[in-house]
Amino acid sequence: MKKDLLTINDLSSSEINDIFKLASELKRNRQGFGEPLKGKTLGLIFEKPSNRTRVSFEVGITELGGHAIYLGSYEIDLGKRESPKDVAKVLSRYLNGIIARTFSHKTVVELAKHSSIPVINGLTDYQHPCQALSDLFTIKEKKGLSNITVAFIGDGNNVLNSLLCICHKMGLKINAACPKGYEPSKDILKEASSAAIFNSPSDAVKGADVIYTDVWTSMGQEKEYKRRLKAFKKYQVNAELMKLANKDAIVLHCLPAHRGQEITDEVMDGPASMVLDQAENRMHVQKAILIKLLK
Ligand code: CP
Ligand code: NVA
Repeated sequence: MKKDLLTINDLSSSEINDIFKLASELKRNRQGFGEPLKGKTLGLIFEKPSNRTRVSFEVGITELGGHAIYLGSYEIDLGKRESPKDVAKVLSRYLNGIIARTFSHKTVVELAKHSSIPVINGLTDYQHPCQALSDLFTIKEKKGLSNITVAFIGDGNNVLNSLLCICHKMGLKINAACPKGYEPSKDILKEASSAAIFNSPSDAVKGADVIYTDVWTSMGQEKEYKRRLKAFKKYQVNAELMKLANKDAIVLHCLPAHRGQEITDEVMDGPASMVLDQAENRMHVQKAILIKLLK
């Protein structure tokens, strides 16, 4: 039966460990892994812009011997030109897999339901599982996964939702500091029941080994930009906040970053920042995901 990756819930902890093991091998031996995707074509259905997700998937697919077709909103126009159901059924006749970045999470669920080929979530308003897998892989590389505390500062958004779920699943302690009214949804807190939610960033970073942040306004929320600027003013990762974390704490950000808002230049460009390794790891981890789902 085909397997999708729509949320972290779709993977067991042993499947996640297998992905990490394969991703390490792929990273060590980037060009020498043969062509496991030879003859396979994947479609990238993107309703929103992307740098990392699009490029890391396209390069990864090429390096594995496969072919990628980018289907931006102009080509497919999901839900307007054609329903997700019809798009899924038609593309299943041509392609071997779909990577989809949609506004509503319901759209990827609908695509997966009507596809006979694997569907991978490349970010929705609810989750960003490929990001969270790459984040944990990066933490594993830098610090290992035992006795680790992660502190997320900012919005209870798609990136935090997936991070909470993966940390809970893999036994990492996670604290999140979010302004009132911007906390993660109840269903996520139920799934990631070991997570601790704070309102104060300084409480959340105490004893943390990893400090993580993301933009205050996600794609699709642009109308709320001004209101969010005010609500998140105190939720910045800066040198002062870093002093409260463990001495050798690292900094992660999924990117794109709004420098001067959720993170300062000093921290983003400083020695604790691992954001470029984190971005690179998207490609290695996604290559492993593709091999596992398309085999
Ligand atoms: N982190 C991430 O998904 O980046 P893009 O939006 O550029 O793909
Ligand atoms: N939370 C951000 C992540 C971008 C990778 C957004 O959804 O825009």
